[in-house]
Amino acid sequence: MTGLLPTYSRQPVSFVRGQGVWLWDDQGKQYFDALSGIAVCGLGHAHPVISAAIADQASTLIHTSNLYGVPLQQQLASLLCDLSAMSGCFFCNSGAEANEAALKLARLHAYRNGIENPKILVTEQSFHGRTLATLSATGNIKVQKGFEPLFPGFIRIPFGEPAAVKEALEQHPDIVAFLVEPIQGESGVREPQCGLAYYLESIRALCTEYDCLLMLDEIQTGNGRTGRYFAYQHSRILPDVVTTAKGLGNGFPIGAVLTRGRAADLFQPGTHGSTFGGTPLACRAALTTVRLLCDGVIENARTQGTRIRHELEKRLNPLHVSVCGLGMMIGVVLPRDATPLIALGREAGILFSVSSGNRIRLLPPLNLTPLESDLLVAKISQLVECFLTQDHSL
Ligand SMILES: Cc1ncc(COP(=O)(O)O)c(C=O)c1O
Repeated sequence: MTGLLPTYSRQPVSFVRGQGVWLWDDQGKQYFDALSGIAVCGLGHAHPVISAAIADQASTLIHTSNLYGVPLQQQLASLLCDLSAMSGCFFCNSGAEANEAALKLARLHAYRNGIENPKILVTEQSFHGRTLATLSATGNIKVQKGFEPLFPGFIRIPFGEPAAVKEALEQHPDIVAFLVEPIQGESGVREPQCGLAYYLESIRALCTEYDCLLMLDEIQTGNGRTGRYFAYQHSRILPDVVTTAKGLGNGFPIGAVLTRGRAADLFQPGTHGSTFGGTPLACRAALTTVRLLCDGVIENARTQGTRIRHELEKRLNPLHVSVCGLGMMIGVVLPRDATPLIALGREAGILFSVSSGNRIRLLPPLNLTPLESDLLVAKISQLVECFLTQDHSL
């Protein structure tokens, strides 16, 4: 057999066309895409303004390399810095690469401070990527299995507990950075139990007190997904480093690392780089995406997200189903294994994912109309009600 390496166990469906929240498979069947390419296509599929910008840029200039100035890169960096209140930006091509860059910043921070054996704080149930360093930072042994020895120096603590951060920082004076998702995505939309703003404000204060870089992984929560441009903007804090990717290019691959303060002057010529990072084409796609997101779409994610969660709660709470999340990052937690729902949903023409066995993850486009939101609620409620009230184990 020749062909693709089997790194994914793929579902038996192939899509050939998209439009907004809709996808069509090669048999002509239509699906409501409540996953958006795993939190990537925040403006939906085949957005006409983005498609036109990509086509225009592709016929103007695709790539020149980072040996020369790239004006679109500078424009995108300024826009992202304005939006985030950060001061510096590095472009790469994916989430894992952005986190690799953040981990390198942590090492440089240690080097500058004469710390020889630096440690980085990470959390349980986190996901940070599939490169060797980022899978080592990830809190999931399934992702790490077979790749030992892991990249050294990570200290793992429970997610969402400021007391655990304080205890670790007190016990290990050589911790130089804390890498954490504001809301955990891959493990099924897990928010800090003590509240997002309280958690962020507590860990910000602790990181400042112990001279530890606060590095937020906003690969999934960024670019409007939670109803603010970045999830930390639901609080009053600023991180030292923030990483993002996924929704930044609406499907065109691009990642970014934003820095400020102590983290802003760590990278110097020769310390980091990427051949493809920040090509004119990637930056044009991202510039167009970010401008559209900031033109009312993020507010829409906030209002439609609240509406979807409330309606789902109303319909599903009686079945002991809870609903969590923020903006268009929505978790529906079932009292039992929800894995069979992926196939049942597909048959019913709706796409989503299931994490940690019983958590449905909904990541719809951020520009859903009220009618599309109602359709999503109707489809999910009906599926879950049917699933929980009929015995599918028979
Ligand atoms: C929070 C988080 N960090 C990092 C990554 C890795 O991103 P990529 O798959 O683009 O390397 C992901 C991907 O799911 C993610 O959700």
